[in-house]
Amino acid sequence: MQPVTMHVREGIAHVVIDSPPVNALSQPVRASLADAVARVEQDSQIAGVVLSCAGRTFVAGADINELGAPLTPYLPDILADIAASRVPWVAAIKGTALGGGLELAMACHGRIAEPSAKMGLPEVSLGILPGAGGTVRLPRLVPMTTAITMITAGKPIDAKAALDAGLVDILAETDLLSEAEALLHDLPMGIPLLERPVRDADAIDWDAEQKTLRKKSQGAQAPLEALAALHDAASLSAEQALAAERDRFLRLAVSDQSRALRHVFFAERAAGRSLRDLQAEPADLSCVGVIGGGTMGAGIAVALLLAGSQVILVERDEASAAKARTRVDETLTASAKRGVIDASGHAAALDRLKTAQDYGALTDCQLVIEAVFEDMALKREVFARLDAVMPASAILATNTSYLDVDALAGTTAHPDRVLGLHFFAPAHVMKLLEVVRGSATGPRALATAGALARHLRKIAVVACVCDGFIGNRIMNAYRNDCEFMLEEGALPQQIDAAMESFGFAMGIYKVQDLSGLDIAWAQRKARAATRPADERYAHIADRLCEAGRLGRKTGRGFYDYSDGKPKVDPEVTAIIEEESAKAARTRRDFTEREIIDRILTVMQAEGQAILDEGIAESADDIDVVMITGYGFPRHKGGPMWLTRG
Ligand code: CAA
Ligand code: NAI
Repeated sequence: MQPVTMHVREGIAHVVIDSPPVNALSQPVRASLADAVARVEQDSQIAGVVLSCAGRTFVAGADINELGAPLTPYLPDILADIAASRVPWVAAIKGTALGGGLELAMACHGRIAEPSAKMGLPEVSLGILPGAGGTVRLPRLVPMTTAITMITAGKPIDAKAALDAGLVDILAETDLLSEAEALLHDLPMGIPLLERPVRDADAIDWDAEQKTLRKKSQGAQAPLEALAALHDAASLSAEQALAAERDRFLRLAVSDQSRALRHVFFAERAAGRSLRDLQAEPADLSCVGVIGGGTMGAGIAVALLLAGSQVILVERDEASAAKARTRVDETLTASAKRGVIDASGHAAALDRLKTAQDYGALTDCQLVIEAVFEDMALKREVFARLDAVMPASAILATNTSYLDVDALAGTTAHPDRVLGLHFFAPAHVMKLLEVVRGSATGPRALATAGALARHLRKIAVVACVCDGFIGNRIMNAYRNDCEFMLEEGALPQQIDAAMESFGFAMGIYKVQDLSGLDIAWAQRKARAATRPADERYAHIADRLCEAGRLGRKTGRGFYDYSDGKPKVDPEVTAIIEEESAKAARTRRDFTEREIIDRILTVMQAEGQAILDEGIAESADDIDVVMITGYGFPRHKGGPMWLTRG
């Protein structure tokens, strides 16, 4: 069957794209659409066209598998034919109209959307820009500032915002297709879109826009190219701007950054697939228990509340329970400020939270997530108590960063229901969920982890038990090597600058100061007794901790925060130089390239060891962990991708 069908009813042609799962514009779809466009032109009975999609969504864009391959017919040519059609076309939008999908809708003469629809040009997230007229048509429909935000940030807008901005003509009230037909009759025969001027471009300070964007994009090329294309749209004729956009698109589509970003797109969707394929029935997530309401427990509670679950949060005493509730409330307030929820959503979420000190309050929960201090004896005690009170069908999870999930499972009578659910701070924001599969973890516990990730809209990556799982193990390895570089002559600010110019949002020393140096210090002290005597060990971080420099929370860590911002501290430089001398290292200069090469080499070696030991399911999963959990620049594709590049 053709992916695009057409039937004519009372002079209106209904052109329907049906190409599951997301109606992407693959080569067969484009060929079939081009054919439909030609048939419309030849059939004089047709007075107008409603373009719609079967399934759950309008067209989600070009087929990402085909990007970079020159395959005819070209989308821009098809869109030009639609725009120049002798009859009006109306796009009937439901679900998402993204990338080439929105460009297709913009080539039509009118647009109607369901109120729940979303529209966007997310191409920059794939390292490209809209290549079928998006940068030229969008600013003729919406004000240039809106076009700049939509195209350079790549974030979709909802139907109401699209209506207000001028991107759609009307929102459907009851029936999308019949209302689309009505719109066809009402469409004024206006000036063709490409002959209209761009909207409100005079007030744009292009240099300032570029400066801000350069800083924000941290080395990603596509947003800057997209801005340049919009500048073309404002300064050249539509025809010239379309040609320039096409050149930029073709150049970016074969770039290393686009290849890397496409790799990440598919790697993120493949992550955790083993959890989805399980036959086991996941636990019900309508009521979830959380033990410990500190940084992580409160964040996990907020994530669950925002997803609609009821949460029973158990703390050690009344005062801690009250503090935990306040923490949750404050985090919800911040979410409301960011527009994630409104005031009534905030109140309803808080209503779904119950705090308690008694484990008996948890018995209605099918899943309990422990997030108490990182202390094995304490966690063992918590698991033994949970095992005693929770029904055998309930799943018990730990948010431990490093500890042995098998040892915790061993304290219970049903180790098959125990697993690690390693969230990242802030837990209600960060996308990554490391699912730690113990040697006894059963399919129901794993299926529950998969269901939880979907419920919270997180990306699950499965790891097996080892010290630090995937992410913290790799971070530990390169953090150690960075300390060796400090001993050998580098300084924290140089390492941070090298990482930031590579594209990390923050260098490793700023990150450590932010999260606090004490957890890793406690972990090093716990391991001191078993560390081989001949293993190289740098004492710099220990010296800082001993001096009370635990990071931002104490005002000093690798940097001095007395002015709020990280400032180089001569005391830290002196400690580093003393440690170099003690270790008998001759200090030398490091270039940025050398620093990055060393960091990547260590990450890749540790990643390979993790694969060889069967800790991760794939190299792609390691990339996903480092990008979504540890700030590795997305447009570089991840450490393991770079070994293939
Ligand atoms: N091309 C190829 N495959 C795609 C695709 C696309 N544009 N969009 C989604 N898919 C695939 C996914 O890989 C996934 O496949 P598997 O089930 O095999 O993993 C399947 O469709 C479902 O996707 P999701 O799991 O992401 O489903 P969702 O419901 O969570 O989200 C979506 C749906 C919002 C459309 C999301 O898939 C998405 O954002 N897709 C990408 C949209 C995009 O970036 N479009 C721009 C493409 S570039 C372009 O259009 C250039 C141009 O100017 C011509
Ligand atoms: P935290 O110190 O902020 O909070 C711990 C909470 O546990 C405190 O509120 C404390 O009152 C409570 N608690 C202690 N004993 C308890 C008991 N017996 N019963 C009930 N509550 C008890 O610690 P944080 O940072 O939230 O860490 C918690 C866990 O999450 C640790 O295992 C940590 O390794 C892990 N983790 C931490 C991350 C971080 O960035 N902070 C990231 C990912 C995991």
